[in-house]
Amino acid sequence: MTSRTGPFDRADFPFALRLVTEAAAIAAYDWVGRSKKEEGDGAAVEAMRKALNEININAVVMIGEGEKDNAPLLYRGERIGTGEPEIEIAVDPIEGTTNMANGVDNSMAVFALSPRGSMFDLGPSFYMDKLVVPAAAKGKVDPTWPVKKKLEALSAALNKPISELRIFVLNRKRHHAMIKEIHEAGARTVLQENGDVAGAFMALQKGHNVDALFGTGGSPEGVITAIFAKALGGEFFGRVDPQSDEEAAKVKEFGLDSTKWLSGSELVKSDDAIFVATGINSGPLCRGITIDRGEVRLHTVILMAKTGARYDLVSRIPKR
Ligand code: FBP
Repeated sequence: MTSRTGPFDRADFPFALRLVTEAAAIAAYDWVGRSKKEEGDGAAVEAMRKALNEININAVVMIGEGEKDNAPLLYRGERIGTGEPEIEIAVDPIEGTTNMANGVDNSMAVFALSPRGSMFDLGPSFYMDKLVVPAAAKGKVDPTWPVKKKLEALSAALNKPISELRIFVLNRKRHHAMIKEIHEAGARTVLQENGDVAGAFMALQKGHNVDALFGTGGSPEGVITAIFAKALGGEFFGRVDPQSDEEAAKVKEFGLDSTKWLSGSELVKSDDAIFVATGINSGPLCRGITIDRGEVRLHTVILMAKTGARYDLVSRIPKR
């Protein structure tokens, strides 16, 4: 018989977590389509911080808003709550802040957690180079290989010609050379302006016509992705990839090696990890918030790394 002793196994625990991303999503919703990124982000950060404090946990923020956006709350090292279990969290109160502010698709409130002592300390890192592949390519693509070799391995693993491979890449100047290499090898790109968490999800989950994610995005998003990649059976690799001299100096001083790729299991040692996301504007993972006849409707997705279980929760709450 399986024993259900740990707090992570408490049947109600994952469901309580939805209150955290729901609160952030509701706060962000007031700012959707108003071209006010910072106000929206500030509101979501504050609401997420408050909601984390209200659920019965004892958390340390391992990676969050503070480093990349100079946020006053949810910064690395912040302790929240005095309850149980003792956890570490990676937070992104709005993933897709620009999309939220522009009122276009794909923004969500996300956070992920694992037991205390299990999350790699990325210190002052803002940016991470990432490789995400689906379950069928797990163990078959090495992040250190050149682009062409990675595509050949992916093609063999997924049993698809290179010409049919579609690689999600954030449309950034830093990726122009890599995008060229992808095209020269004969593969296609899926270039998006924002949202590599959703990009990783599409690469990991069948049916989105994305075969992998390559390239550099935020470090918090990387840790969060490492957790849901475990739940979806695929593979994540990350390498700190500073984008300024200042970041490079800080990362070096902290003792991080920007030439070393870390596996998902090095970034998050425990499988007792959980990913939670609530949609703000609809994206590939979550439906966005809708308000109808005085009722706010929210869609939250919870992914359990250990079992791969996915819970889709819909909350209907009266509009304030
Ligand atoms: P935020 O909404 O948290 O700013 O993240 C959006 C995003 O596109 C992420 O998905 C991605 O990891 C990161 O920004 C990339 O950073 P940058 O826009 O600075 O290249």
